[in-house]
Amino acid sequence: MSNLMPLIILIALMLVACSESVQLNAQQKQGKKIFESLCDKCHNLIPPSNHTDAEWAKAVNLYGTKLKLQQSEKNAVIDYLSLVNDK
Ligand code: HEC
Repeated sequence: MSNLMPLIILIALMLVACSESVQLNAQQKQGKKIFESLCDKCHNLIPPSNHTDAEWAKAVNLYGTKLKLQQSEKNAVIDYLSLVNDK
């Protein structure tokens, strides 16, 4: 039993590491907040994985302008979506 302990600890550590979600920096956190609070006003929130970085940049510029977002706020939303869309 005792010689299994290192293996058990290793597996436990791996499980902890895998369950941790993506770490967002301050700008990406701001972008997530804006996205989740404002981008569901006219339609359901669109899952980040639905679009590529380039598609999101286009959509955020278009709809961000309708929402009167600052350029820095649009950049934050694009930064967040580009990180979490896995594309
Ligand atoms: C003023 C209303 C409004 C707001 C606010 C808005 N959208 Fe939209 N959005 C629309 C409409 C209307 C369409 C459908 C356009 C079409 O089909 O031609 C759309 C479509 C989209 C699409 C393409 C369709 C799809 O399912 O992928 C994306 C991407 C999108 N919006 C992203 C955003 C994002 C990001 C925000 C926040 C910055 C946002 N929208 C906020 C009105 C809005």
